[in-house]
Parts: sequence; C-alpha cells; structure tokens
Amino acid sequence: MKKRLKKIWKWLDDRGGLSDLMKPLTTHLVPPESKWNYVWGSATLFCLILQVITGITLGFLYQPSADVAYQSLVYIENQAFLGSFIRGLHNWGASAMILLMGIHMIRVYINAAYKYPREMSWITGVFLMAFTIIMAFTGQLLRWDNNGVWSAVVAAEQIGRIPWIGHWLAYFVLGGETIGGETLNRFFALHVFLFPALLFLFVVYHLYLVFKNGISEPPKIGRVVDPKTYRDWYEKMLSKKGVPFFPNAIWRDAVFSAFVLIIIVGLAWFVGATPLTSKPDLASVHANPKPDWYFTWIFALYALMPRQLESYVMFFGPLIAGVFLFSIPFMSNRGERSPLRRPWAVAGIVFVILSIGSLWYVGTKEPWSPRFNAKPLSKYATVPDPSTKVQKGIDLFNTAGCIYCHRIGNHGGIRGPELTDVENRLTRKQMIIRIVNGGNNMPAYGGSLKKEELDEIVSFLIAKDKK
Ligand code: HEC
Repeated sequence: MKKRLKKIWKWLDDRGGLSDLMKPLTTHLVPPESKWNYVWGSATLFCLILQVITGITLGFLYQPSADVAYQSLVYIENQAFLGSFIRGLHNWGASAMILLMGIHMIRVYINAAYKYPREMSWITGVFLMAFTIIMAFTGQLLRWDNNGVWSAVVAAEQIGRIPWIGHWLAYFVLGGETIGGETLNRFFALHVFLFPALLFLFVVYHLYLVFKNGISEPPKIGRVVDPKTYRDWYEKMLSKKGVPFFPNAIWRDAVFSAFVLIIIVGLAWFVGATPLTSKPDLASVHANPKPDWYFTWIFALYALMPRQLESYVMFFGPLIAGVFLFSIPFMSNRGERSPLRRPWAVAGIVFVILSIGSLWYVGTKEPWSPRFNAKPLSKYATVPDPSTKVQKGIDLFNTAGCIYCHRIGNHGGIRGPELTDVENRLTRKQMIIRIVNGGNNMPAYGGSLKKEELDEIVSFLIAKDKK
C-alpha cells in the first residue's frame, strides 16, 4: 500500500511538478521576529476563500430575478439542506473579512510597512479594500428583502447627489431612474462576476509583491529605511537569520485562520445570518432601512451632517479619503518605521478610529429614521386658540405620519427638519410645494392628501407659537 502511494506521488510529482510548485514556499525566507501580528492578512485571504466557496454554494440555489429572488432566499433559509447555515457562513464571513481587513490595514499603517520597497503592496491593498467594500454593498441588495434593498437604494440615492457625475452613476448602478428588476441583475453581475474577478487579480498581485519584496521586519526604534541601502540590508539580514516561510511562519497563519473559521462556524450555526425582513415593496420607502453594521457609520455621517453639505461631502469625502490613502506611501516612504517615533501618524489613526467608532455608535441609535412610536400632537396644547381648520391640520399631521419625521415642540422624529418655527423660514406656497413634491428623503404627498387637507396642514404649520 505504502509503496503504491509512493509510486502515485512520484508520478504526480514528476509529471505535475508538485514539489517545484511548493519550492518557493519552502525556500522563501522571512524575518524570524514576524510573529502573531502578521496573521491578519492571511486570515483576510482565508475569509475571501470561504466567501468564494459559500458564495458558489448559495449560487446553486439563488435566483437573481426580481420576481423570485426573495422566494429563493426564503427557500435557502428555511428548507434547503444546510441552507441557513451556509447563508450564515457567507454573512458572518463577510463581516469577518471586513473586520480582519481593517485590522490588517491598521497594523500595516502603524508599523509603516508601506515604506520602501513595499509601496505597491499598500496601493494594491487600497484597491482591495475598495473592492471588498463594494462586495459588501452589492451583496446586501441581493438579499432582496426590504432592508437590503432599501439600504442599497438609500446609498445609491446618495451617490446620485454627487455633483456632475452623480446622476449618471446612480442611473448606471440602479439600471434606470429608480430601483427595479434591472437593479438586481446589475448588482448580481457586479457581485458575482466583475468584483470577484478584480479581487482575485489584485489578491494574486498583492501576494506576488509580498513574495518579491519580502515580509517587512518588525520596526525598531532608530532603524531607519533608506531606499539606497534597504534591499541589501534586508537580504543580508535574511541570509543571516531568516527562517523558511513554510513551515516556520505559515503555521501561525494556519492556526489563526482555523480559529477564525471556528468563530464564523459557531456564529453561523448558533446565531445565523441577518434575518430576512419582508419582501421588498418597491413602491414605498416606508421601510426603515438598516444597513449591515459596516455601513452604519456612513449612514450616521450623512444623517448628522447639515443637508446643504451632503452633496459636497458625498463627492469630496471619498475622493479625499482615496487620494489620502493612495498618497500615504508617497508622502513618507523612508525614515523611521517605529510607531513610537511617528506620533502624528499614530494620532491620526487613533483619531480616525475614534471618529468612526462614535459615528458607528450614533448609527446604531438611528436618530434619522422615522419614529413610528412618536407621541401624537395634542390638538389643544399645540397652538394657542386653534381654529377648526388648524385643529384638523394637527390631526392630519399625526395621521399622515408627518410626526414620524418632523419635530414640533417636544414631539416627533428628527429625520426631517424641525417644523416648530417653519413659518419663519417658508411661505405658505413654499410649504405646499415641499409637501406635494417631497424630495431629499421627504415623501411626496401630492397623491395622498386632498386639496383641503393640504390647506389644513399648512394652516397649522404657518400658525405662530407652536409647541
Ligand atoms: C419619512 C420622513 C418624512 C415624513 C413622513 C414627512 N417629512 Fe417632511 N421632510 C422630511 C425631510 C427629510 C425633509 C427635508 C427635505 C430637504 O432637505 O429638502 C422634509 C421637509 C419638509 C418641509 C420643509 C421644511 C424646511 O424647513 O425646509 C416641510 C414643510 C415638510 N417637510 C412638511 C411635512 C408634512 C406636512 C408632512 C406630512 C404630511 C411631512 N413633511 C412628512 C421628511 C419627512
């Protein structure tokens, strides 16, 4: 038996060149001190592989067509063999990948591993980050339930507000002026064909660069990077005390990835994927979309910002962030790598983490979503001496749902502007135009309010001393 196996191996190795294929791994040397802090990247890669496997598995049953997508997901979730578990793996795998990628980036940044000669590793990494975020974003819509669909649509509408190119971009992403069946097919093609292919290409190149330039040695105070001498120094250091990547370093990657797998499996099995909400109602935005956790902070940022700034931030925010990320290795590709000697760089990243953290915290509280439990305005206490018309207006303000989004005195949601003093800002005519046409997250009421009802609401809004 053993002899036969040996023979098979010999044949495979001779004709298939297996040990030659493995050779780069066993001969590639890495700095001996690169220990547990170096596992984040490989764990991210591991999650990507898991996503590919579970994604293909889901693809066996998922139907990317607006009529049946939701049913196919209900089937996967409730009936298909292991369907719910595999959906859970894909869902938690996505979260794990984003989290590990973030930690990997922070680790690289704090150790300044992007300095000479590894600038390209950083740049391809920024592309990988963008692709991963796009994957998470497009995947959310494929769920094709109310939450996934409207989260994606809200984001697409924000894209639409980017000056100059926004409208075109939103049209392209949605496959039309508004969401519809085409949107699902577009997102499916992006999520399943285009971006996985891009991810794959960039990952291969990213890994090639790791092999070509070597893993960065842990920084040491006073050991500065000088492009003139670095490569020589690195080679010498490796030949003196380097250890083979396989098996001396890779076992940590394997152990950590196994640990990540256990956690993902546990969460998928015991907690499961994000629950499906109801079938999407493409005609009404009455859903209160809750994006997946990694986007909550972006929702929070836009919700908290003064509305006039939104379009600019939408455009310049990602642009500046992108330019900044790409320029990091060009701004400083030499000198000290130790975080202890780069206090400003460290302060910067701490600032970014704190900002995102607090936005995220606010995001989970969602001040901008309509408050469906808002206490109705009282007809008598709200305006001094109301006429019947105004009283009717107050009733309508409650029943038509204005109160969910607009605050008057101490009552109401804060998704829209407070209307306590709206009579000082807008004329009667402007209010009517606003209410009839809606816009910017305000639903249009032209179709649902009768002329006299509109008149009653506006009479109430124009009244002085509301509280
Ligand atoms: C889903 C949330 C939501 C509901 C429900 C809603 N609004 Fe609004 N409303 C908004 C938002 C958001 C804006 C700001 C739009 C903008 O920035 O242009 C707004 C703007 C307005 C404005 C202009 C205020 C200003 O200061 O510019 C008026 C007036 C108004 N709404 C009245 C109403 C009335 C009356 C109703 C009920 C019939 C109502 N809204 C229902 C979200 C809502």
